[in-house]
Amino acid sequence: MATCGTHSVPTPFSGRLWGCYSLGESGKLAGSPLLKNSGGPSSMNILAVLQERFRAALAPLVEDPTDLLTMIRPSGDPKFGDYQANFAMPLGKKLGKPPHDVAAEVVAKLEVDDLCDPPEVAGPGFINLRVKDSWLAEAAGRALASERLDVTPAAQPRTYILDYSSPNVAKPMHVGHIRSTVIGDSLKRTLKFLGHRVIADNHIGDWGTQFGMIIYGFKNFLDRAAYQQEAVTELGRLYRLVNRLVSHLEAKQSLPALREQIEKQRAESARQAAAAKQTPADKNIAKAARRAEGNLKELEAALKEREAGIAAIENDPELSKLAAAHPDIDKSVLAETAKLHHGDEENLRLWREFLPPCLADIQKIYDRLGVTFDETLGESFYHDRLPGVVEEMISRGIARESDGAICVFLAGQPAPLVIRKQDGAFLYGTTDLATIQYRMERWKPDAILYVVDHRQSLHFEQLFGAARAWGYDQLELQHIAFGTVLGDDGRPFKTRSGDTVGLEGLLDEAVRRALEVVRTGDEHKPSGAEIAAEQQEVIAEVVGTGALKYADLATNRTSDYTFSYDRMLAMNGNTATYMQYAYARVRSIFARGDVDVAKLRASGGAIDLAHPAERSLAIGILQFSEALAQTAADYRPNLLTAYLYEVANRYSTFFEQCPVLKAPDEKTKTSRLLLCDLTARTLKQGLELLGIEVVEKM
Ligand code: ARG
Repeated sequence: MATCGTHSVPTPFSGRLWGCYSLGESGKLAGSPLLKNSGGPSSMNILAVLQERFRAALAPLVEDPTDLLTMIRPSGDPKFGDYQANFAMPLGKKLGKPPHDVAAEVVAKLEVDDLCDPPEVAGPGFINLRVKDSWLAEAAGRALASERLDVTPAAQPRTYILDYSSPNVAKPMHVGHIRSTVIGDSLKRTLKFLGHRVIADNHIGDWGTQFGMIIYGFKNFLDRAAYQQEAVTELGRLYRLVNRLVSHLEAKQSLPALREQIEKQRAESARQAAAAKQTPADKNIAKAARRAEGNLKELEAALKEREAGIAAIENDPELSKLAAAHPDIDKSVLAETAKLHHGDEENLRLWREFLPPCLADIQKIYDRLGVTFDETLGESFYHDRLPGVVEEMISRGIARESDGAICVFLAGQPAPLVIRKQDGAFLYGTTDLATIQYRMERWKPDAILYVVDHRQSLHFEQLFGAARAWGYDQLELQHIAFGTVLGDDGRPFKTRSGDTVGLEGLLDEAVRRALEVVRTGDEHKPSGAEIAAEQQEVIAEVVGTGALKYADLATNRTSDYTFSYDRMLAMNGNTATYMQYAYARVRSIFARGDVDVAKLRASGGAIDLAHPAERSLAIGILQFSEALAQTAADYRPNLLTAYLYEVANRYSTFFEQCPVLKAPDEKTKTSRLLLCDLTARTLKQGLELLGIEVVEKM
């Protein structure tokens, strides 16, 4: 599995997940979004409090301790306490003193009496910190009494624009868009929960070449009856048909160049092979020859594939007829797009006709996923701004003409950002620049986050460079890139027929399989099945969509991930199903023990942490705000899933080792029930921030 340290067996003290989310990849200070806000006795972010205390202790020794503070982390082993500060080595080097002495010096200045047992200096200079049991118990009490589990909202809220989902209308939405949708939605929820102002803006592609294709298809290939019956399906068919014919034409046009390239490579490969034969002992020459041969093979394979694609159309009587009858379809499609952009009445009318059913179709998916946006301002919205953007970029000397096109050249970039083509057409990047300008005027954000496939990295680098040159240099611009969803064969996920997979079908299948999981689970309960059939279906929808989302979120977003229904619906391991099951299991204790949770909460009972498993669970729960801060600092929901998984595992150990309903006395029982309640609330809140629901019974 791609997340680090995931196990199907509970590993309460492994601490591997802790290490995993304790330091953001960006090298930013872990938990920094909350750091300024913490320090007061009410702050729940233990790590941030410790960092503040260390900052004060380090102040007399170094000018800026920020880097050192990132070396304070939850410890991997309870032997070494709850947190460890590991900066004595670099600090010792800097000060020219033995690390152990430096650590002792820092500890002498460190004021943590209220929070920790006396710190210990271990080994070469590790500072081990153990949080006081009394502090933990008190903090747990505060979490119990707080709606938001005592997670302190940011003292200085920022304004974020989140640009996610952003599918291209009228093209079938595919599995890559679910990743953007799900990650963006989770970041939105998390940032909002942390007290920030978030504007979720769905920057849909509603103005691109696909409309030229559909308009051309509509004018030439329409099946009117089908359109009347189901507009979106017919528009999708038209898009695929025209797209196929255009690709066919392009493939045919590209053949001569490809063949020429192959001939050149063949000659090169032969030359290298001869050289290798002449000096068989030279490993480098042999390697170059093998590489040349490999390149040749690759080109030949590409040619074969292209020829097969062409043959597939040519051998299809109907398609070949269409291809022959529309020999200029590529140019015609561009012409239809240009006409639309220039305000041609008929094309605009068609565009206005196509858009609503397409949007409604996408909305169905959002409804099912429980995803909402504050704005849906598609590319078309910015159309009128584009000429002005280009003019301004030229007049301010940011863009200039090159081969008839208008380009922004940026230092360190291999290629310029083209903002107007030779033929006068504006591009994706022009719209994105206009969008930044609009967003700044309207919302004055501190940050704009683009949750988009990693294949668009170059585009965003160029865009951000151009935006900074344009004067938006105080604005945080981030490409929240994510990897590709792969099939079993390790290639981008496709259906058997080779089409990219539609989202609706994907959800249906996940829910269908979830129903099986729920049904089987219920049938095998020791006390017999207890969930009615309709209820099972409601649960299956929650479990199925949850599984799909969680599989996306639990993978470090920069990695590719392999799509597998079986894995995402597994009852064990880092899955939504496991987390939802853990939640339901905690809740079932209240049902079995006939416990009135409202009364329990109001009872004034205290949490007592005598057993190591109780303590481990409690500190795990209290690290919720740390996990959230780190998730937000690095924009990585997988840090939150890893955290929740760890809590669920700690609960598992607690549950095995500490009887709750059969606790030795009333006080212990109340304390343990309160811990159960806190666990359930933390899991539920955490899952909610991932956009995943829970069920009371499973
Ligand atoms: N519509 C684009 C696509 O599907 C993604 C747009 C992302 N957002 C942006 N502002 N460029 O590839």
